[in-house]
Amino acid sequence: MKALIDKLAREHILTRNELVMLIKNRNPDLDSYLFEQAVAVRRRIYGNDIYIRGLIEFTNYCKNDCLYCGIRRSNKGAARYRLTDEEILNCCKTGYEMGFRTFVLQGGDDAYYNDERICALIRTIKNRYPACALTLSIGEKSYSSCRAYFNAGADRYLLRHETADDIHYKKLHQDEMLLSARKQCLYNLKAIGFQVGCGFMVGSPFQTASHLAEDLLFIKDFEPEMVGIGPFIPHHDTPFAREPAGTLEMTLFMLALIRLLLPGVLLPSTTALGTIDPAGRELGILAGANVIMPNLSPPEVREKYLLYDNKSCQGEEAAEGLEDLKKSMDKIGCRIVVDRGDYIDGS
Ligand code: 5AD
Repeated sequence: MKALIDKLAREHILTRNELVMLIKNRNPDLDSYLFEQAVAVRRRIYGNDIYIRGLIEFTNYCKNDCLYCGIRRSNKGAARYRLTDEEILNCCKTGYEMGFRTFVLQGGDDAYYNDERICALIRTIKNRYPACALTLSIGEKSYSSCRAYFNAGADRYLLRHETADDIHYKKLHQDEMLLSARKQCLYNLKAIGFQVGCGFMVGSPFQTASHLAEDLLFIKDFEPEMVGIGPFIPHHDTPFAREPAGTLEMTLFMLALIRLLLPGVLLPSTTALGTIDPAGRELGILAGANVIMPNLSPPEVREKYLLYDNKSCQGEEAAEGLEDLKKSMDKIGCRIVVDRGDYIDGS
């Protein structure tokens, strides 16, 4: 197995069978070998720098009904909210003063925020904070909407593909949703000129090693600037309430493989990882991640943006916990920088 890791570190690609073999045979010994190589690649490209992104969860209304997600439209138990423009701008102000130079507007797929409203918001934020990058994470949109967001000044777009297997995709989503449409949106975003992020959940229901290999091959082929992955965590008011969560170990393994497949990728150690294990965020960095996305949303709404149970929004997950986060990064030889943190082509 170590020979496969060496090959991956050298060539940045493996075959489907090789990836499946690695995934099926992961063990602690292999983990440390893989993480060492992944961290070496991260250091070669990004040094000790860790980028932070201020996450603003501005609406939890959603027209979709993804079976895994706590803010799915048929969850009548979710307390819905929308932030006003003023509240969103206040989040940016606080974030800017703390040293954030990227803001991520993340929300459910909420029709209230039509193109006109989103574009106006983008213009205001970019006008007030020209030194900051603005990332959107607002779901699958039409070509013309994406074009309008880009023209208004948005820089980056996150849209997880969730799984690169059509049949698996159908098992995770309501009937109207199609993997082909999701992929088309990703290709559109890239053609328009966004820095684009895709990604998937580790340990989602029905997922197999060969699905994970497919996800990795899709990512390699698509060459996104960013990849967001985290363990699946069940939410009590969803059809997957009783499904087991993904594991810390497999998520770390995937992070490291992604770092070796795409050396320069911007790879967050996500909230979900910090939720399944208190040390998750640091362990993610030690497996090759180089981005952390603390929560900048107003504290009153944080527990309403509940994609899964026990979602962490305290301590180092929160922007107010930045000092603690800096210390914990220090301890592992990394430093949080005041920087937009754009993609560096590591090939
Ligand atoms: N567990 C983990 N991640 C989840 N997401 C949604 N629901 C869950 C869950 N139950 C992830 C999806 C989505 C992103 C915003 O959050 O991958 O794209």
